[in-house]
Amino acid sequence: MLAARRLRPGPQCYPGGRPPGPPGGAAVLCPKRGRGCCVGSAEVTVAEELIAFASKGDMLAKSKEFWNPGKTQFWVDSGVPLVIDRREGYFIYDVEGKRLIDTHLNGGTYNLGHRNPEVVAAVTAAMQHFDIGNHHFPSLARTALSEALVSTGPPGIAKVVFGSGGGEAIDIALKTARHATKRRKIVSVAKAYHGHTGLAVAAGDERFSTLFLADRPDEFSHVPFNDLAAMEQAVRGKDVAAVIMETIPATYGFPLPAPGYLAGVKQLCERHGALYIADEVQTGLMRTGELWAISKHGVVPDILVTGKGISGGMYPISAVLVSEAAAGWLSEDGFAHMSTFGGAELGCVAALKTLEITCRPEVRSMVHYISGLLGAGLAQIRALYPDWFAGIRQDGLVMGLEFDHPRGAQFVMRRLYEAGVWAIFSTLDPRVLQYKPGVLMTPALCDELLDRTEQAIGLAARDARSGRGRP
Ligand SMILES: Cc1ncc(COP(=O)(O)O)c(C=O)c1O
Repeated sequence: MLAARRLRPGPQCYPGGRPPGPPGGAAVLCPKRGRGCCVGSAEVTVAEELIAFASKGDMLAKSKEFWNPGKTQFWVDSGVPLVIDRREGYFIYDVEGKRLIDTHLNGGTYNLGHRNPEVVAAVTAAMQHFDIGNHHFPSLARTALSEALVSTGPPGIAKVVFGSGGGEAIDIALKTARHATKRRKIVSVAKAYHGHTGLAVAAGDERFSTLFLADRPDEFSHVPFNDLAAMEQAVRGKDVAAVIMETIPATYGFPLPAPGYLAGVKQLCERHGALYIADEVQTGLMRTGELWAISKHGVVPDILVTGKGISGGMYPISAVLVSEAAAGWLSEDGFAHMSTFGGAELGCVAALKTLEITCRPEVRSMVHYISGLLGAGLAQIRALYPDWFAGIRQDGLVMGLEFDHPRGAQFVMRRLYEAGVWAIFSTLDPRVLQYKPGVLMTPALCDELLDRTEQAIGLAARDARSGRGRP
């Protein structure tokens, strides 16, 4: 039987139910659980009672049958048959025990590592008192988090609106801009990604909007990234409510904004009466060495969106930081956006702790240090394969590795998986691998990551060039 923490009984059964190695629990359940050696692990007991499969194959078949056939098969075909079981720090373990260094981090959700002990402790303590709360009422945890976000946010931010995920937060941001400007049009970047809810998906690439007839060409226009002339053309009609920009477009493979580009977009917004929305769902929370990446570009956004890593991966929550000038609807009709789980109190506690850890000076310095270490190491690897490893896009720990093949990053992803590293290709530019180490990674783990990366990049070069391997 395969349970949430069990695949093979027998040699992997450890006294006390825990294997040697990184702390955090057993990847494998003891077959005698409840009759001896694994008694006492509530975590294990709960999972096994609720989740049990005959084997990994059985689990994958049922995943296709009952969950998502397309996604399940895609990963098997891609050579990444990963079913995540144990997770701790920057490691994840497949149900068969394979250890992977996580440099995907779900887009930064696990910036502070999986199950960061301080965040777990804060949420565990909060669960003795809070639940999600009632979204209609003022709340202790929500108010404390709002105050913390305003005080650490860009200048001029005055109010916070909460959602339960990034897409919802983007919808809130766009609605806020429409209310403030009394305009309907939204401009974004071609190949941008802002989520899959109604307005967010229309602001993103057509890859995700047209399938559900959710594109809205009359209201949403897309301009090429790093093209100020195209942006001016899009906003000059003075009918645009907002320009929404990922500070570094993640799903497009982290192309870096040209010097002055984002400041230029902001100037155009000011000139033509549109608001500037900074989507910092992937670039915020110290990933670039500053709490909010947009501050490095001298841009003060009217609205800033954060999500993913804001609650340390322990509870879904997202937040929209809004300037006083744009926040009018909150006074006019405070019930105008409602979300039962938006700003759930347990999520607020997780986010308060996450923000407190992230803002520690030593965390900021370490991000600067390991960014340099990884940048230098990657440059050395690139020098070994100059015709294959075509470029490194880097701002702190936001990194895109570019390969000279239309699906180069898929070859590298597969070889990295075999080498014990999980990193994902960029959906909207599969030449580029998203490489997103965590902000608390140790220099020793960075060295290990670089060794494994070098090995995988070399093998992937052979695969891509020989035409034998498949991405
Ligand atoms: C830049 C950006 N914005 C918004 C979103 C949407 O977030 P969520 O998946 O939580 O809805 C994502 C998700 O990957 C993202 O990368």
